[in-house]
Amino acid sequence: MKVDFTVNGSARSIDVDPATPLLWVIRDYLKLKGTKFGCGVGECGACTVHLNGEAVRSCITTVDSVAGGSVTSIEGLSPNHSHPVQQAWIEHAVPQCGYCQSGMIMAVSDILAKNPSPTDEDIDKELTNICRCGTYPRVRAAIHAAAA
Ligand code: FES
Repeated sequence: MKVDFTVNGSARSIDVDPATPLLWVIRDYLKLKGTKFGCGVGECGACTVHLNGEAVRSCITTVDSVAGGSVTSIEGLSPNHSHPVQQAWIEHAVPQCGYCQSGMIMAVSDILAKNPSPTDEDIDKELTNICRCGTYPRVRAAIHAAAA
């Protein structure tokens, strides 16, 4: 089945099994490797991208469900890492191993678009991405910096 959608502003037409997870289309068909596979069951958030401006977990999003939609991966979030969340991440040296961080940044950019000044409680509630290195204190500081 052909699935047509936009990725990072470019129209794409992918001939693929409609049940294929969006994550594998992004990584294997489109060769955009910034979006990561962690758990594969929607729990960790490493695979987070935006679909029509909303954060989604691409490992549990089938490609047919994005037909006609607009997907943004970490590569398309901003030119030259200029998004305020990316700048805050750099300033606060957030990543340790870095594996989960693209998903974290995509989730946080969506959270801040909806809630520009989140409290610590808001962050604890709204950010459910998992970081094995435990960078949560730096993540929280960077979120507040990006929100400022
Ligand atoms: Fe998708 Fe973990 S890989 S939520």
